[in-house]
Amino acid sequence: MSQTWNAKKYSQDATFVSQLASPLLALLAAKANERILDLGCGDGTLAVKLQNLGCQLVAVDSSQSMVEQALNKGITAYCQSGEALNYQAEFDAVFSNAALHWMLKPAAVVQGVYLALKPGGRFVAEMGGKGNILTIRHAINAVFQQHPEFGEYHSPWYFPSAEEYKELLVTAGFKVQSIELLKRPTKISAGIEQWLTIFAAHATEGLDNMQKRQFIEAVAAYLKPSLYSTQNGWIADYVRLRFIAYKPE
Ligand code: BEZ
Repeated sequence: MSQTWNAKKYSQDATFVSQLASPLLALLAAKANERILDLGCGDGTLAVKLQNLGCQLVAVDSSQSMVEQALNKGITAYCQSGEALNYQAEFDAVFSNAALHWMLKPAAVVQGVYLALKPGGRFVAEMGGKGNILTIRHAINAVFQQHPEFGEYHSPWYFPSAEEYKELLVTAGFKVQSIELLKRPTKISAGIEQWLTIFAAHATEGLDNMQKRQFIEAVAAYLKPSLYSTQNGWIADYVRLRFIAYKPE
């Protein structure tokens, strides 16, 4: 199951995705003139940051509407699946934020990244890891169970443990310098209904407009006791998997 993205809504209400990327950018420690591939670039916000540091950026995303946003920001961007990368020893680094968990063929992704890197190049990424948005996933499943007329629900996400992803990286030939799973409760300023509209569009693709509304309201009602407080608003139970791995010289 793939997801259709509303890139305009994403750019308005999902700014937290790039705003929370400082630790990942610090791990990447990009230098001017490095050639960097941004894998799953979204609307290109982080690619712009890297380009402004003097890096030579190429960005790819499987969503044409996201690629258009990145192109509008002056990024060299292509619509391409991360599972079918076709670069040969071109990049000093492959960088990815909050995208790898949408790619359900992780071995193909890791292999493509390995081939894309120059010897000595690095793969620096953060993605949803084991336990990510567990409460939200339970709510989505529960609402589908309560509404058989919505059909069957298939999760589009892959949230591996550190051990599982490390194994994939090592099998592809990488030397893993660090890989860690971190709980990062994440404030959803736009509210959970907007979050669901942006990030759970896959779940409602076969539904009519009334059912879509029903789905979103039911999931929000299910989640309110655990994720909402008047003091803090909506806080989602994000878990990050962050790593840096090298292709040997
Ligand atoms: C994430 O960044 O962890 C994420 C965001 C939306 C949906 C699923 C995961």
